[in-house]
Amino acid sequence: MSGTSLDGVDGVLADFGEGTAAVRAHVHLPLPTGLVAEFLALNQPGDNELHRAALAGNALARLYAQVAGRLLAAADISAGAVSAIGAHGQTVRHRPGEFDGTGYTLQLLNGAMLAEMAGISVVCDFRSRDVAAGGQGAPLVPAFHAERFGQPGRDVAVLNLGGIANLTLLPADGKVLGFDCGPANALMDQWCQRHLGQPYDEGGQWASRGRVDGSLLSALLAEAFFRREPPKSTGRDLFNSEWLASRLPTDRSPVDVMATLAALTVHAAADALRRHAPATSRLLVCGGGAYNDHLMRSLAELCPHTEVTSTASAGIPPDQVEAMAFAWLAWRFQTHRNGNLPAVTGARGARPLGALYPA
Ligand SMILES: Nc1ncnc2c1ncn2[C@@H]1O[C@H](COP(=O)(O)OP(=O)(O)OP(=O)(O)O)[C@@H](O)[C@H]1O
Ligand SMILES: [Mg+2]
Repeated sequence: MSGTSLDGVDGVLADFGEGTAAVRAHVHLPLPTGLVAEFLALNQPGDNELHRAALAGNALARLYAQVAGRLLAAADISAGAVSAIGAHGQTVRHRPGEFDGTGYTLQLLNGAMLAEMAGISVVCDFRSRDVAAGGQGAPLVPAFHAERFGQPGRDVAVLNLGGIANLTLLPADGKVLGFDCGPANALMDQWCQRHLGQPYDEGGQWASRGRVDGSLLSALLAEAFFRREPPKSTGRDLFNSEWLASRLPTDRSPVDVMATLAALTVHAAADALRRHAPATSRLLVCGGGAYNDHLMRSLAELCPHTEVTSTASAGIPPDQVEAMAFAWLAWRFQTHRNGNLPAVTGARGARPLGALYPA
């Protein structure tokens, strides 16, 4: 998995069976800074994009192959023992339902090259089939969240704080809902890089020293995306530095803007929770944002009747959940089962997700 934060690649080696799932190894490799810059650039129209996209997809395949190699070494098993790599690729455009009515979502990755280098079958391009069936192609993780974190008789929700925030609602009645609820680390990381020269705000310490600017927060929350009903998904196509710049008065101090971006993340999530699942008694947080103490504290304050805790309390460290979900989707593909939840993505029906590059 390499998500919109562009921080790196998270890989897990996981065993799946009927109703069982266990992680045997976890590896994280950072994205080289040149590749981060190229993926960011490819989010926007630019010169000679086809050529650059192809080479970026090759570079990512090399990095994924390295992750796969390290996982095998960590678990001390051979490539032949692994049935598939579920490989997400790097999203550079996400425009489902637009333009010609179908639109597209684009995750760069050379799957053939990854299969060639790793010697393991690769399942990738998970989102396109759902988009072809009229869906958002996202979020795809709620099916896995439901299987792994659902609790009979209890209203639970899962919040993934990656580059973008997505929420999975697991009510006691079993009707799973999930949608992207707003920006998370994508905007905060960029602000932190620009003003502190650091990749991210460790523990949210910088944000915690600022004052939330109420009028700026209202201006940001006025974005129509927040009011849209699910199914909905978003990405850097919308929540990028231009989006922020066009709403940002020039005289605001950087630390207060940081505090306000953190507040935007938690307010958008808490509002969505209040609107769609007010009876939620437990909120499990995953993604890198779960390591941001300031975000976790602010969420708990905004949701006083909900127990807010990291997914570690439910058995999976927060930085392994999304990678495990895409391994699980590859397992679903290999066992001829559907991967999407039409109620979540808005697709016309359940569909098998992914394309196979055999070993
Ligand atoms: N100790 C920490 N303190 C604060 N923030 C952290 C910490 N560790 C990680 N993060 C944040 O988490 C981000 C990475 O999160 P993650 O890998 O879940 O996002 P992602 O790659 O966009 O994934 P996805 O799209 O799958 O949700 C980092 O860029 C950083 O902003
Ligand atoms: Mg990541």
